[in-house]
Amino acid sequence: MAEKPQILAELEQEQVNALAGLSMVQEEEALQVWKREYLGKSSKVMLAFSSIGQQPKEIRPLVGQVANQVKQALEAAMDACAVTVHEAALAHKLASEKLDITLPGRRPVSGGLHVQTSVLRRIYDIFAEMGFQVYRSCDVESDEYNFELLNIPAHHPARDMWDTFHVASPGMVLRTHTSPGQIRAMRQYCPEPIRVILPGMCYRYEQISARSEIQFHQVEVLAVGKNITFSDMKGTLNGFVRRLFNADVRTRLRPSYFPFTEPSAEMDVECFVCGGKGCPVCKGSGWLEIMGCGMVHPTVLLNGGYDPEIYSGFAAGMGPERISMLLHKIEDIRYFWGNDVRFLEQF
Ligand code: DAH
Repeated sequence: MAEKPQILAELEQEQVNALAGLSMVQEEEALQVWKREYLGKSSKVMLAFSSIGQQPKEIRPLVGQVANQVKQALEAAMDACAVTVHEAALAHKLASEKLDITLPGRRPVSGGLHVQTSVLRRIYDIFAEMGFQVYRSCDVESDEYNFELLNIPAHHPARDMWDTFHVASPGMVLRTHTSPGQIRAMRQYCPEPIRVILPGMCYRYEQISARSEIQFHQVEVLAVGKNITFSDMKGTLNGFVRRLFNADVRTRLRPSYFPFTEPSAEMDVECFVCGGKGCPVCKGSGWLEIMGCGMVHPTVLLNGGYDPEIYSGFAAGMGPERISMLLHKIEDIRYFWGNDVRFLEQF
């Protein structure tokens, strides 16, 4: 038998080598390398096709036939391998993305109300039960509303009680208290009776410290009508304080002075930290100052449009930050607007 032409032997050997190489392939990338080497333009199989013309005539058909067989065998093997490689890649991907559904879930982070929003809402709720509605007034006020109409004329020494931020427009200020809203509410509702609370930010040009901030809330209380007396004020404010702190907290009224009320008083609650015995929170006095109050001054009633001979009213002003500090034992007022989440998340 004639010896097998070398080219055919080479092609058969190539098939053996290629299949052996393919059996090592595990990844897509390696498969591409393999394809280039064994089925690419300069692979032995492809070169065999282009060499057909140079082969002795009698073996040309055989070379073509064998080259074709080898090529088809390699392609079939490659396709099978491609499926395996793809499946392996998929399995690997799935394994790497494995979910352990038995793990406890992670709680989604959700925001919460600012401590002052909560305290303000508590205050609104309590007053709403007593028939007071919320009246919104403006943060930027005229000197006239912030002072003059509240019986605090220019150069009056009582102006020293409020260190004021003046804004660029002459005669305009950032309100130093919520009291100017009293005039706005009265002018809007006159001659109807009024029961409102006026919450809002107030601003004072002060040295910032643990006790004082340049911006803080106030809630103003105003009731105007016929036959409103000092006892109505006392009853209303006591009712409020008892609902806010606790049902049997004791209160007291101390004489005080505000230009827009006459008589004026300061309401104290019995220190709920020490129960009135005296402690650092109440500075040993057993009492905590909670708000200023009094009967609306006749001049202020008049400025609001109400005849003081017929109408009377009471007013009060409190600082919800101070109330919060007492309720939650917060030692520094700067925490409220410092935006430190470690503080905010506690409420
Ligand atoms: N406006 C006062 C202040 O900022 C607080 C105040 C005191 C308001 C007595 C009142 C009041 O309505 O009757 O210090």
